[in-house]
Amino acid sequence: SQRTLVLLKPDAVRRGLVGEIIGRIERKAGWTIGALELRTLERATLEQHYAEHVGKPFYEPLVEFMSSGPSVAMVVEGERVIEGLRALAGPTDPIAAAPGSIRGDFGTIVRENLIHASDSVESAEREIKIFFPELG
Ligand code: GTP
Ligand code: MG
Repeated sequence: SQRTLVLLKPDAVRRGLVGEIIGRIERKAGWTIGALELRTLERATLEQHYAEHVGKPFYEPLVEFMSSGPSVAMVVEGERVIEGLRALAGPTDPIAAAPGSIRGDFGTIVRENLIHASDSVESAEREIKIFFPELG
């Protein structure tokens, strides 16, 4: 079994989509929520989380957006949950995301794409330590 770090981004919280998105995650067989917190993310936290993107043209506006209001940070556990949550979220660009995926159903803007989910076992362990150090 695996665990992954999920963020419901400030656009999801502002638009009242938290229940809808968590509902989709909860309904997947055998997946469970291991930790959950509503929190406005600090720049320092985001700098760690998005370390791979520091210096890219979209980095500053991304951090600005991600710290613009509360996000929901959660750890989700279960069978192939890393790959599974990336599939449930859909591709980064919501316009390229198929209907039925979270980004495909609710998104139009690349930056405001509703959800983050870890992209590998290594990223999941690194990111869980950032947001839930007590679970590290
Ligand atoms: P995360 O799950 O949030 O990490 O998304 P991702 O893995 O699908 O994308 P990636 O890690 O490449 O980029 C992180 C976030 O930066 C994305 O979710 C977008 O919000 C934003 N982003 C990525 N690429 C672009 C881009 O080309 N333009 C803009 N405006 N934003 C981008
Ligand atoms: Mg990513």
